[in-house]
Amino acid sequence: MQNIQSLLKPLNKTLTLSNRVVMAPMTRSRADNEGNIPTDLIAEYYKQRASAGLIISEGSPISPKAVGYINVPGIYTQRQVEGWKKITEAVHERKGKIFLQLWHVGRISHPDFHNGDLPLAPSAINPNEKSYTPEGFKETVTPKEMTIDDIKTTIEDFKNAAVNAINAGFDGVEIHASNGYLLHQFFSSTSNKRTDEYGGTIENRSKILFEILDEIKKEIPEQKIGVRLNPSLHGIFGMTLNEDTIPTFDYIINKLNDYDLAYLHLSEPFNDVSEIPHAETQIAKRYRPIYKGTLMINAHFDQESGNKVIEDGDADLVSFGKLYISNPDLVERFEQDAPLNDYDTDTFYTPGPKGYTDYPILEEELNTK
Ligand SMILES: Cc1cc2nc3c(=O)[nH]c(=O)nc-3n(C[C@H](O)[C@H](O)[C@H](O)COP(=O)(O)O)c2cc1C
Repeated sequence: MQNIQSLLKPLNKTLTLSNRVVMAPMTRSRADNEGNIPTDLIAEYYKQRASAGLIISEGSPISPKAVGYINVPGIYTQRQVEGWKKITEAVHERKGKIFLQLWHVGRISHPDFHNGDLPLAPSAINPNEKSYTPEGFKETVTPKEMTIDDIKTTIEDFKNAAVNAINAGFDGVEIHASNGYLLHQFFSSTSNKRTDEYGGTIENRSKILFEILDEIKKEIPEQKIGVRLNPSLHGIFGMTLNEDTIPTFDYIINKLNDYDLAYLHLSEPFNDVSEIPHAETQIAKRYRPIYKGTLMINAHFDQESGNKVIEDGDADLVSFGKLYISNPDLVERFEQDAPLNDYDTDTFYTPGPKGYTDYPILEEELNTK
């Protein structure tokens, strides 16, 4: 019998999946309607990709304050929940599984999204990034330092959004605590200069994540919750590594062992950080021995390196981003060792089906030859 590739083996842990190929969360900006409601087109896109062991949806804002990009489908209104039901039904029809990614961008937003009000962040420090507003790219501004009330409201918003996701039929939720967005802004001592119980020590800077987890698990089982972290992010989305960074992630990841999560989703460095002081260049290798639950790894993987990271015992699951944009049948292509379609970066965030639902599956390719 043929040896089955590691990526194609089922996962039977807290989470059970038919294979280890995960579609990484990716913003595609197709909810270009009043109310940012998920559409039939979005349902078709996810349905096409349902042979993944697990799909993680694009980041979905948990409240109006959490929004920082145009045309992203939210999870805070009943109309949005109704819209998402079409997506979860379409994926389940094909026996797929789908989690929703809970997102708050914090300071990577712009007053244009908030009727002129400042975006929220742990401290009033401008990330000096660009925000993609309805009028195109604009410079970010100095955000408003969150009050304790703002923090409590945000924690509540995460909980309500998680409940909405389950009501919309999602198999679980992923807390987006990476890529320089709100929760990552709390973790980092360059973006968090607070002097209260949410700033200063590692425990204080990490506290909001655990408070969110504790709140969500009052409503939904912790086995349906995943957490995403990007420890070595540097020079992107206003994040900079410093001497506090890796000790902070060591602490967070150790403490996540106290929860029976669906998974921990980590990213290898997005860019070359080998010359950057305080960077950890091998995320899976560092954190596999520390984290006891299901570990998902991301960034720059292909079929070969994906199989290898699992065979080496450094991860249980691999999430693929850009390859999933252009290969809806990525699992079948891996099964058949088939060639992959290239992706077109020009249509990553543009409205409509072009570069979204029109990438061919293998069968269609063969028929047109
Ligand atoms: C178009 C696009 C949109 C993305 N949107 C999100 C997002 O909403 N949430 C998130 O956590 N990561 C997002 N990412 C990052 C991906 O999940 C992934 O980490 C990144 O693409 C690296 O993986 P890859 O090398 O397999 O593409 C996005 C990436 C791309 C290319």
